[in-house]
Amino acid sequence: MNNMGIEIIDLKTDKKKEKIIKIIEWDDKTATKNEHEHFMIKEILEQPEIIKKASLQDNEKLMKMAIGILRSKQVIITACGSSRYAALIGRYLFSKIGEKFCDVVMSSEFGYFGESIDKNTLIIAVSQSGETADVLEGLKQAKENGAEIYSIVNVADSTIARMSDEVLYLNCGPEIGIAATKSFLAQIIIFYVLAFAMDNKIEYANKKLMKISDLIKNDIADTIKTTKKIAKATKEQRDFFYIGRGINFAVASEGALKLKELSYIHAEGMPAGELKHGTIALIEDKSPVVAINPNDYTYLETLSNAEETKSRGAQIIGISDKESNVYDHHIKIAKVDEIFYPIMCIIPEQLLAYYLALECGKNPDRPRNLAKSVTVK
Ligand code: G6P
Repeated sequence: MNNMGIEIIDLKTDKKKEKIIKIIEWDDKTATKNEHEHFMIKEILEQPEIIKKASLQDNEKLMKMAIGILRSKQVIITACGSSRYAALIGRYLFSKIGEKFCDVVMSSEFGYFGESIDKNTLIIAVSQSGETADVLEGLKQAKENGAEIYSIVNVADSTIARMSDEVLYLNCGPEIGIAATKSFLAQIIIFYVLAFAMDNKIEYANKKLMKISDLIKNDIADTIKTTKKIAKATKEQRDFFYIGRGINFAVASEGALKLKELSYIHAEGMPAGELKHGTIALIEDKSPVVAINPNDYTYLETLSNAEETKSRGAQIIGISDKESNVYDHHIKIAKVDEIFYPIMCIIPEQLLAYYLALECGKNPDRPRNLAKSVTVK
């Protein structure tokens, strides 16, 4: 009997088993819908708070991991689904802030690179559940090859967390909606603090993130109104194109994934510069093109790519802090320092996918064929 009064018995041998009981600090409020229609909208609305919670990490650990990343000869981030798009955003942040190049390999393909993983490799696994089979498989192989493992996970004591040399937790509570929302944002926030730790600027990052959390909170009601309207206006369309350059390409990819998962509308996320190499052939009258176009280093070029599609009949949904007559629909975001724009663009994408799912008569909490945690290969 342990000090919680719980006894664990092996039914095969009838013998008592000693197990260490760990208490996970998740309250039941986070696991109920409360007044909301769906878990998904509840979890979207929680995000201003999640930004704060995820950013507060143990600074010593962050510094240790940042130094580990900077010193490592080869850094590879591996993940699946939304977690992989968070990893792609992280990759840009590591380069922009930490001046460290790294690669992202999707876990289902990771095994095919086994020959180039060795003791000079640092693997960063990103996983909400900490149990995704493809991620686990890759990590096992990397461990056998002598690589060091860091991970960014939500579920405490999950298999991936236990396999890792260092773990950062998302601190976003249980995510019930099948489609990742708050866990995705929390993963990105962790990439921000980790990248800023590489530049010895954790305090700076924390201050900025607190402000951003307030800005998002102030704007969320307006974003809901705008995305509801756009969803009504575009619900008949069957192909959406999400474009962005640089870090915004990763943001675009996640936007497209959310739409596919929830409304079963076909969507592609792509680097805006790649449109002309094929996909532009698909643009026809009223094709919705979602331009992830904050006023940053990618602004003018992305706008020009959006214009190219508009001249072929596309309707442009611009997610930006800057107005433009190129946009048929404008989802306004607040102006922030350039590096933080991805955080501002994610909630508009999630809300657009949520309201489009509702317009199409789908239940966003129960997307067909999808599971929260994919524990088979
Ligand atoms: C499933 C979920 C996705 C998630 C992916 C990776 O496909 O439906 O929402 O992004 O698995 O899951 P993980 O738990 O490893 O982040």
